[in-house]
Amino acid sequence: MIMVILVTGANGQLGNEMQIVAKQSSDKYIFTDVCDGYEKLDITDLEAIRKNVKEYDVKCIVNCAAWTNVDAAETAGEIVETLNATAPENLAIAMKEVNGLLIHISTDYVFGGDPYNTPCKEGQKGTPTGVYGLTKLHGEQKIQATSCNYVILRTAWLYSEFGKNFVKTMLNLTSTKPQLKVVFDQVGTPTYALDLANAISAIIEDYKREWNLKPGTWNYSKNGIYHFSNEGVCSWYDFAKMIAEYAGIKDCDIQPCHSSEFPSPVRRPAYSVLDKEKIKEGFNVNIPYWISSLQKCIDRLSYGTKK
Ligand SMILES: NC(=O)c1ccc[n+]([C@@H]2O[C@H](COP(=O)([O-])OP(=O)(O)OC[C@H]3O[C@@H](n4cnc5c(N)ncnc54)[C@H](OP(=O)(O)O)[C@@H]3O)[C@@H](O)[C@H]2O)c1
Repeated sequence: MIMVILVTGANGQLGNEMQIVAKQSSDKYIFTDVCDGYEKLDITDLEAIRKNVKEYDVKCIVNCAAWTNVDAAETAGEIVETLNATAPENLAIAMKEVNGLLIHISTDYVFGGDPYNTPCKEGQKGTPTGVYGLTKLHGEQKIQATSCNYVILRTAWLYSEFGKNFVKTMLNLTSTKPQLKVVFDQVGTPTYALDLANAISAIIEDYKREWNLKPGTWNYSKNGIYHFSNEGVCSWYDFAKMIAEYAGIKDCDIQPCHSSEFPSPVRRPAYSVLDKEKIKEGFNVNIPYWISSLQKCIDRLSYGTKK
């Protein structure tokens, strides 16, 4: 059976990777964003979401839209809560009304307030340190309160060949500056957005298997929160070193430094490694090691799919 899947924030990093993954699918994808070039959909507008869901007979929404500027979130005001919490609730309401599935992306920044040193599990209490993490946590709670079918995927340190991200910034800085300092006291795991898009595709396939068996109103057996990043652990310093090394950039001296050397409006988690056992068991997804995926992304940047 063909399912209609609506992707929000299609012009972002993950949205672009979803467009690549969708090319392998037999389902019908509708790509939306607030900018030109896509079906126009502002996810803060519940009636507009309902209209799209009805018009296209949407049975699954993949929400790639969000307020993602962590520093600016501290001073941007109400819009951050609206986009990261109220808007996902709108999408959940719209999916509840048609008994569809919402796949929503959240963040490792829902953690950070406690001094962890073992990978964070899904059931662990959220301890965000800033407005971005707090509003993303509210988004998760609001989705759950609608009791729609949902899969919330918390991810971390997202990068891709599309849009702005750490990998592209480091490729630029290390090839133009003789020296660079990068923090080594924040530890996590990078995530290649293409790997996340493939995991989302696997979740949709799993959902469809159950959907085909259970017409009418039903609860997806795998509703819940899951963690997804690449495998392994590193600091931003290790990440920067590996980016420069694989790209063959030798003339930049990259040195480790403390976060205190880069004053920021928000304290970021010192350790936010995500435990991925639940998604591996639940959906049998293949998760590549962070260095392998980084190399794949840098190869793609060099071979012309970049924007
Ligand atoms: N980036 C990371 O390191 C990271 C880490 C962990 C989790 N995540 C989560 O992963 C998800 C995807 O992140 P990303 O980096 O791919 O995001 P992104 O590149 O910032 O893309 C977000 C997209 O949403 C669009 N958008 C903004 N307001 C909208 C609205 N009202 N209605 C519809 N679309 C709207 C944006 O348009 P404009 O560009 O015009 O605003 C942009 O195209 C987000 O939920 C994010 O919180 C990201």
